[in-house]
Amino acid sequence: MNTMTIDNLKSIKADRKKFASITAYDFSFASLIDNAGIEVTLVGDSLGNVIQGHGTTLPVSVDEMAYHTANVARGITSSLVLSDMPFMSYSTVPAALENAAVLMQAGAQMVKLEGGEWLVETVYSLTQRGIPVCGHLGLTPQSVHKLSGFKVQGKESNAAEKMLAEAKMLEDAGADLLVVECVPSSLGKTLAETLEIPVIGIGAGPDTDAQVLVLQDILGISSRQPKFSKNYIEQASSIQDALTSYRQEVLSGAFPSKEHGF
Ligand code: KIV
Repeated sequence: MNTMTIDNLKSIKADRKKFASITAYDFSFASLIDNAGIEVTLVGDSLGNVIQGHGTTLPVSVDEMAYHTANVARGITSSLVLSDMPFMSYSTVPAALENAAVLMQAGAQMVKLEGGEWLVETVYSLTQRGIPVCGHLGLTPQSVHKLSGFKVQGKESNAAEKMLAEAKMLEDAGADLLVVECVPSSLGKTLAETLEIPVIGIGAGPDTDAQVLVLQDILGISSRQPKFSKNYIEQASSIQDALTSYRQEVLSGAFPSKEHGF
């Protein structure tokens, strides 16, 4: 069993310290991430983009997530393995229970679901059965068509208030972590201050409890470098070195800087 636990992550927040997370999709990179001491390894459905070459995460299946989760888990000894539940795999409570079980049996220690209020019953049902849940609010890529594109969310005050209320609902339903993606830095700060559970930001400013990025972005091998990310390979002598610098900069607060925020 991996050594990083939910309690460890909550203690880091309670001590007003930070932790780092990065995506991984295979054994080799997972081993390097683990060696770098990165606290949470996310088997993201972003594999639809960076591994499979799709324009969105929508084509990714539960079987594909399970395959990549198993490969990543074999490379990990201490990081917490968090796996994305793919598009429509949690659209009903019974589907969520069945598909989350597949990912947990493949090696995940927690599953991540995109959405707010409509997921309250699902989060409760999963967590009551011993499956830890990470929420995901803000820009939720599985809803890209409904959102009319990959856009910053929560810019208007009513949208920010709704997101804050939904975050609280997810926490109350039993979520142990929350990812918040592409929101104004001020909202990232409010979310982290309001919730007791750790809030992991991506494009959510410097004041969330942790940061997550896509591996290919920090290694400079994505077709497009998002504004909220940083290429760590430029200043590194190896991939291992780049991963270590990323974690150090998150823990020290050097990353993200103002230019990475909205
Ligand atoms: O799939 C993924 O990589 C993610 C991150 C962008 C948070 O969900």
